[in-house]
Amino acid sequence: MVSPQEIEQAAGIIRRGGLVAFPTETVYGLGANALDPIAVAKIFACKERPSFDPLIVHIASLDQVAQLTLSTDERVARLARVFWPGPLTIVLPKSEHVPDIVTSGLDTVGIRMPDHPVALALISASGCPIAAPSANKFGKLSPTKAEHVRKQLHLVDHVLDGGPTRVGIESTVITLHDDGFVVLRQGIITAEELEKVVPRSTSDSTREEQIASPGHIQSHYSPNKPLYIWREYADIPDTRNAAFLSAGSPAPAAFKRVEYLSESGNLYEIAANLFQKMHALEEDEHIEFIVAEPVKEAGIGLAIMDRLRKAAFQYR
Ligand code: TXA
Ligand code: MG
Repeated sequence: MVSPQEIEQAAGIIRRGGLVAFPTETVYGLGANALDPIAVAKIFACKERPSFDPLIVHIASLDQVAQLTLSTDERVARLARVFWPGPLTIVLPKSEHVPDIVTSGLDTVGIRMPDHPVALALISASGCPIAAPSANKFGKLSPTKAEHVRKQLHLVDHVLDGGPTRVGIESTVITLHDDGFVVLRQGIITAEELEKVVPRSTSDSTREEQIASPGHIQSHYSPNKPLYIWREYADIPDTRNAAFLSAGSPAPAAFKRVEYLSESGNLYEIAANLFQKMHALEEDEHIEFIVAEPVKEAGIGLAIMDRLRKAAFQYR
């Protein structure tokens, strides 16, 4: 789908300070040279993203970690061995090489090695770490296909089309306290899985970490029409012009359209289809609003409900 020539061309754009959207295993990212503050500023402009929201820096090899962080925490190597490349972002004290605009002025930087051949090839060919948020307008649905990127962003120099993404929701973000890790954003890698590799902190996230973490932006990942969570919203209007987004159950009322995130309630499948189905329903002009079936809030269900609650927040 993406040729070596196209990777080379896209890497040239990154080296010259341009913007390239690229697939990762989670969602599509909007990338720029992480060490070039002017290139990174274009990301914020393109996404209309507030400058207080820090970016994740993507790497293709472990030696890039040493360039980005002062940390020599041995837990990073342990986590990397098990979870990288993969959907885990680790927040660490930043080195002086990382421009302040990347981290929104914080003294920490989020780092991850994505598990996608196109992303890894792009980072390697560019010869620099790549700062990349999800490639959507701030607060809107995350992109799991190249056309989702093109729908929302018009100032991108190039979009690498790697087909639909496998995981479908953004990486798990963690930070490391002295006594263990703290989850700042839920993802497909759960606290239970992380706990098998490094201890979990008994403390909660600090105030500074909370300000930096997306959990405190209550409205996010939103379709451009109302979304309600079934049974959690008391006054759902007439559903005959609405869509039901099922997590495995049959529609509980008469709906114009019913979409299954998974026929069997499989949580990996639900995560993989979540944004893609929301995009499809957002684009369907016959649908006035969306009603989503909740899942149990445990394991990956925490990440799925986090996305659904933020999508629904402004419509409560
Ligand atoms: O899967 C993903 O993580 C995707 C792909 C493209 O890699 N990226 C992504 O980026 O979701 P974004 O910008 O949409 O979300 C990154 C979140 C920020 O909102 C922020 O809360 C958290 O990661 N983050 C980044 N750097 C941080 C830091 N230094 N401290 C605390 N949180 C940080
Ligand atoms: Mg995002």
